[in-house]
Amino acid sequence: GIDPFTKMTRPSSDLTAFREHFAKAKHIAIITGAGVSAESGVPTFRGPGGFWRKWQAQDLATPEAFSRDPSLVWEFYHYRREVMRSKMPNPAHLAIAECEARLGQQGRSVVIITQNIDELHHRAGSKHVYEIHGSLFKTRCMSCGEVKANHKSPICPALDGKGAPDPNTKEARIPVELLPRCERKSCNGLLRPHVVWFGETLDSDILTAVERELEKCDLCLVVGTSSIVYPAAMFAPQVASRGVPVAEFNMECTPATQRFKYHFEGPCGSTLPPALERHESEAV
Ligand code: OAD
Repeated sequence: GIDPFTKMTRPSSDLTAFREHFAKAKHIAIITGAGVSAESGVPTFRGPGGFWRKWQAQDLATPEAFSRDPSLVWEFYHYRREVMRSKMPNPAHLAIAECEARLGQQGRSVVIITQNIDELHHRAGSKHVYEIHGSLFKTRCMSCGEVKANHKSPICPALDGKGAPDPNTKEARIPVELLPRCERKSCNGLLRPHVVWFGETLDSDILTAVERELEKCDLCLVVGTSSIVYPAAMFAPQVASRGVPVAEFNMECTPATQRFKYHFEGPCGSTLPPALERHESEAV
């Protein structure tokens, strides 16, 4: 519709119209951010709960912070890994995974492009996931570069019981040889979380694959992201500029909202399941 005051077109919140696009789409791209995990109890970055001790992620998720104080940065990631043990996928993750499986049987594809490092899409059963910011549960060796899945709890004995988020917690100051180390014989390099930190670039193979998906999709959903961190912030606007319908699911408007065809406001655990449930026209 046209806003009578601003004369700008507003995104529609007509679920029936969205469902008509959904019924016809052959390749659906779903871009997700921290908001998709909010109802699982995982704090978002820019919402309340974005602090650990006296820092925000932007302060510790940097290569400079890690080289200055690897013990502190590992405490932070150890805490975030341990927190995830008590968190479960929510109805939004499950609706996405169920939709991928169901449409797959109809020869249609659903791909998830997530900025989240919590692996909740995998745990919900999604198969086709691009983790563009990496994973809390992967490590990368600073010496040999090996990337490895790692779900150990604790990740190393020295971090056991460390990482408490309270601002008055004393720093563990773990000697670097007792932090997580590469298990490859003759390497023993320092491991770091395999996540993309501020000031680092995204993996170019993943970006190329994501670009291909964005060019192929005929429907795009953008769920629970503030759309301010690049390059992910430009993915959905880029799809919209091709004339492909984009639907945003968020608690509020974002800087990108005006560029989209649909905007569904509210918690995505409530708004996504009815949007993605089986359409009456579906064969299976
Ligand atoms: P943000 O914390 O910036 O934004 C979360 C978004 O989710 C906001 O727009 C909220 O309105 C929305 N939201 C919150 N709860 C929701 C719910 N229940 N349902 C729907 N939407 C909800 O998180 P991201 O956009 O993911 O990067 O942040 C992007 C990147 O910035 C992160 O991947 C991280 C961060 O710094 C790196 O670490 C490299």
